[in-house]
Amino acid sequence: MDLAELRDIAEKQRLARKRIRIHCCTSSGCQASRSLEIKQRLTDAVVAEGLADEAQVVSVGCMGFCGQGPMVEVDPDGTLYEKVTPDHAPAIVAALKGGDAPDVPRGDPQHPFFARQVHIVRKNGGKIDPERIEEYIAAGGYATLHHVLHEMTPAEVIDEIIQSGLRGRGGAGYSTGLKWATVAKSPGTRKFIVCNGDEGDPGAFMDRSILESDPHLVLEGMAIAAYAVGAEQGYLYVRGEYPLAINRLQKAIQQGKKHGVLGSQIFETNVNIRVDIRIGAGAFVCGEETALMASIEGRRGMPRARPPYPAESGLWGCPTLINNVETFANIVPIVANGAEWYASFGTAKSKGTKVFALTGQIRNTGLIEVPMGITLREIVEDLGGGAPGGQVKAVQTGGPSGGCIPASLFDTPVDYDSLAQVGSIMGSGGMVVMDESTNMVDVASYYMEFCKDESCGKCIPCRVGTEQMHRLLGKIRAGQATQADLDRLTQLCRMVRETSLCGLGQSAPNPVLSTLRYFPEEYAAFIDTKPAGDAQPVHHGHTEAPEARSASREADSSQ
Ligand SMILES: Cc1cc2nc3c(=O)[nH]c(=O)nc-3n(C[C@H](O)[C@H](O)[C@H](O)COP(=O)(O)O)c2cc1C
Ligand code: SF4
Ligand code: FES
Repeated sequence: MDLAELRDIAEKQRLARKRIRIHCCTSSGCQASRSLEIKQRLTDAVVAEGLADEAQVVSVGCMGFCGQGPMVEVDPDGTLYEKVTPDHAPAIVAALKGGDAPDVPRGDPQHPFFARQVHIVRKNGGKIDPERIEEYIAAGGYATLHHVLHEMTPAEVIDEIIQSGLRGRGGAGYSTGLKWATVAKSPGTRKFIVCNGDEGDPGAFMDRSILESDPHLVLEGMAIAAYAVGAEQGYLYVRGEYPLAINRLQKAIQQGKKHGVLGSQIFETNVNIRVDIRIGAGAFVCGEETALMASIEGRRGMPRARPPYPAESGLWGCPTLINNVETFANIVPIVANGAEWYASFGTAKSKGTKVFALTGQIRNTGLIEVPMGITLREIVEDLGGGAPGGQVKAVQTGGPSGGCIPASLFDTPVDYDSLAQVGSIMGSGGMVVMDESTNMVDVASYYMEFCKDESCGKCIPCRVGTEQMHRLLGKIRAGQATQADLDRLTQLCRMVRETSLCGLGQSAPNPVLSTLRYFPEEYAAFIDTKPAGDAQPVHHGHTEAPEARSASREADSSQ
């Protein structure tokens, strides 16, 4: 493939485009509500109405407002339909001839949920068919890779990424450009790149959605990275619970190879970039980079001590670049528009946008892409529309590694450093909203149970500590704990945080520490109101999990 052929594909695609495109979301959220059937019924209706020459139904990726799905959008007039059922299809198509579809719920494209967003990574989401490379190319796809391979040296690419200020979207927020530079200069003729699509945080679905909606954007970003660091082999590590993402990636890789944008001598250069998929079995710890590499190598997914970091010694002892899905999805926009353009979004130390999965007790749930620096209040109240059944009490960012931020701190800007200052983390982008009916000790216990179950067991502080912390939380929730238990919980948190081998254990105490910090009265209520010698559970409006009592019994017998 050369540039003329790339342009030719784009031109043919533009010519084949019908005047009206009915975009039907077929990402997993909408598929779960029968969007494949809706798409078929829309296609049948277009034929039945005699509109086949001027209208086409296009399967597109996530439009973001998943809570209102299945979503259908008519392009170019922008009419948006939500909560569509297969039976709505004839009316939607009939309305193309003029008139209305009064019985189909209408979405508002100017809704604050959409209006406050800035789409860099999600530019093509809901606009192109993710299963057709031609649509991606017509939207400008692979032109940046061509430009990079023919006009830029690897060092220039790395410099552009450094200047952009992009930081890793997988959790730690390390400078992407500096990581690339380390891999590039690490000695070795064999290097690898890995895209981390493990996404194990409860409530998170950003990476799944990006992979389902725009797989070529991630592949093109990976190809640029491979060229920059001198790697010829890439792996996409995706959890097995994401079958649609895997399927679309498989198709995208095949198409990329067929069109010569992946594989050998791409774009008529001496650059070879091969990308293969590795399917994870769903262990949260396999998202940790050293465990992930062990898994790719065919070993049990367990973390190892760092250094050496993967950039120096990764897969099979070779320098390896590991970046998150969203990190790779940012590469093409940065190189195409320039580092300065990208750095104009966000804050001084957190550039660009961030994709969040907004879930929980909130009116508007779905996927949002917002500029860094937006406040939590703007996200929760403006985009999210607040809690449907009362006041929002807190937001959990960063999943089980993050913390609960109370409503009193909602003016905190969403950037790496500000979130860390209030005891949470950006994480990969899960944002779970909780209202007043939520008991924060229950929340801490839920996340601790998750970490206990997902601990790989390699190091004692995490293996035993998460178990002990979970038991203590159970004892507290059952109204059987004393102040000494609470002190012990705090000590355990510090010990596990400081002595665990990997990030899972090091951050597992965060939900407990943040809820202790901001909601101490909720812990105290379980303890202070306990009548002396009374072992009966006390009720504080929390959700009494059935396991709480047995957990506390276990805790009692083991102490
Ligand atoms: C327990 C644990 C789970 C993780 N899960 C993920 C994950 O699902 N996706 C991800 O990109 N990073 C995850 N990370 C972070 C990775 O170790 C690594 O820092 C990241 O993939 C680097 O990419 P980035 O620089 O683009 O953020 C996890 C870390 C820990 C400790
Ligand atoms: S901290 Fe936990 S998950 Fe990490 S190596 Fe130790 S036992 Fe395994
Ligand atoms: S999955 Fe359809 S709008 Fe998100």
